Amino acid sequence: MSDTTTLPDRGAAARPTPKPGILDIAPYVPGKANVDGVANPLKLSANENILGSSPDARAAFASAIDSLHLYPDGRAAILREAVSRTYDLEPERLVFGCGSDEIFQLLNQAFLEPGDNIIQGEYGFGAYAIGARACQGQVRFAPERDYRIDVDEILKLVDGRTRLVFIANPGNPTGTYITGEEVRRLHAGLPPSVILVLDGAYAEFVADPTFEDGIALAREADNVVVTRTFSKLHGLAALRVGWAYAPAPIADALDRIRLPFNTSIPAQLAAVAALADADFQARSLELIECWRPWLAQQLGGLGLDIVPSAANFLLVGFPKTPGKTAAEALAFLEQGGLIVRGVGGYGLPHHLRITIGLEIHNRAVVEALAAFLKD
Ligand SMILES: Cc1ncc(COP(=O)(O)O)c(C=O)c1O
Repeated sequence: MSDTTTLPDRGAAARPTPKPGILDIAPYVPGKANVDGVANPLKLSANENILGSSPDARAAFASAIDSLHLYPDGRAAILREAVSRTYDLEPERLVFGCGSDEIFQLLNQAFLEPGDNIIQGEYGFGAYAIGARACQGQVRFAPERDYRIDVDEILKLVDGRTRLVFIANPGNPTGTYITGEEVRRLHAGLPPSVILVLDGAYAEFVADPTFEDGIALAREADNVVVTRTFSKLHGLAALRVGWAYAPAPIADALDRIRLPFNTSIPAQLAAVAALADADFQARSLELIECWRPWLAQQLGGLGLDIVPSAANFLLVGFPKTPGKTAAEALAFLEQGGLIVRGVGGYGLPHHLRITIGLEIHNRAVVEALAAFLKD
């Protein structure tokens, strides 16, 4: 008997038809890079590293020039060894992806059946939901309090069809984080069959000692996955490298369904070099630690509502008064060559998300917004 006999018959449709729900998915909208009629605008819309990338990573990338005809090592052995050594993690529990975005996709694909659900915060990062909906999963949004994940609200939404809980810690676009104690309470309240995904895309930027990156929890638990990326601190967004530290059976499942060559040779080489470049990492962190409080204080001084950020960007609330709104500020900044991120798609129509820049950029943002708000 064919194993397709139990599947619904979509063959009668007049033309190829995507699975139910696919065409209801709102496509991911990336941070803008260009503005019509504005030459060389500054992109502060995608939380990239304003310092660029490590000189060692750039050299390693260039060294791949003679290998472009070769398939990469599908197990990413050199990168696996480097991540394993740097973070003291069992190499067989690491999974590498085309950005951490791919890891979220793989988790959804491996664990969701139609009708199952995932839970995320009200303002959760958009990629989780896209992947879940593509698997005909449902997405449950837990209300946040003061733009922060609320553990109890998440736990209230768990039912027998919940398979994954996705938490970006710190969150995007909020920049807020929950403490190690809150993460452990969330984990303790979840059934063992539910996977807690702790997305640490911005984890390196958090200075507060109450924060934990979740790796210690993931080491012990059978249902915790921690993800990290080379796109932010390491400034390698273009190369698309992320990784997960997962319980061995989960890592095994993800590895079976990922594309065999999902990280390229230049990407693997550059990521290994970036991990070893402590100086570039330190400079990147110092920049954020210096300018994040300055920008928050200056924009707060203009009367804007600043959400306390632990990441490399700020979420800024604008008045609802016509002439002073977030949408109008966005357009004003763009015309002045500063591209920041509108976050209406995240349910935050009165906010903008601004990546921390160099001193000159941060000062330009403050000056522009002062001019915009002036009466
Ligand atoms: C919270 C969060 N997670 C994951 C990612 C994706 O990272 P990657 O470039 O590794 O796919 C981003 C990128 O903006 C992010 O903001």
